[in-house]
Amino acid sequence: MAHAEAYKEPGTPEEQSRRTFMANAVIALGGVIGISLTIPLVASLIPAADATNDQWSGLTPEQANALKKATADAPVKVTFNVHETNGYFGAADNEQFVWAVRASDDELKKARPELFDGSAKLPYDAVNMGFVVFSPLCPHLGCRYAWIAAQKKFICPCHGSVYSVLGTHEAGPALRGLDPLPLREYQGKVQVTWIEYAPNMPAHVVLKVG
Ligand code: FES
Repeated sequence: MAHAEAYKEPGTPEEQSRRTFMANAVIALGGVIGISLTIPLVASLIPAADATNDQWSGLTPEQANALKKATADAPVKVTFNVHETNGYFGAADNEQFVWAVRASDDELKKARPELFDGSAKLPYDAVNMGFVVFSPLCPHLGCRYAWIAAQKKFICPCHGSVYSVLGTHEAGPALRGLDPLPLREYQGKVQVTWIEYAPNMPAHVVLKVG
């Protein structure tokens, strides 16, 4: 008897397809709401240029001087310590580096329009103090690429992605160009924010900050 009460007629084919349409519409709407909640969250993970939080890592005067030696066709590797805190190991300083290149806003906009208003748009200024600093992680799968002076290209040893001096993706399997990181001069100190972006996709999706 209980079975008989629980059983409902499946309805005509038109009614069934209307129900399927409604169910799919609810799933699609849920996806749109999920994405719209995620985008502000990604932007809010990244510190504003005038923020005083500890997601900014300071360069020593020697490291800041090394950065300022970078030119438009001779990038410089700048080492610094990222101050990280996590629940298991507490606070620790981890050595990292970025690639610094001298560039103007207009030069970067011309070479990398997608960073300003396209598929890889960034929620912060990519050029600061006349420089752009690139994450050393290849946007394909995260290997560390190198500057090959003889070819004037950044080349990744893992699967051969090639990038121009301003990080434009020129060859190989990567789906976006090199990732600029936030840089600022704050109270007389040069600071960088370490951000890890999800590999192997055209957009900038944050995996980790600081
Ligand atoms: Fe750099 Fe694959 S990780 S090309």
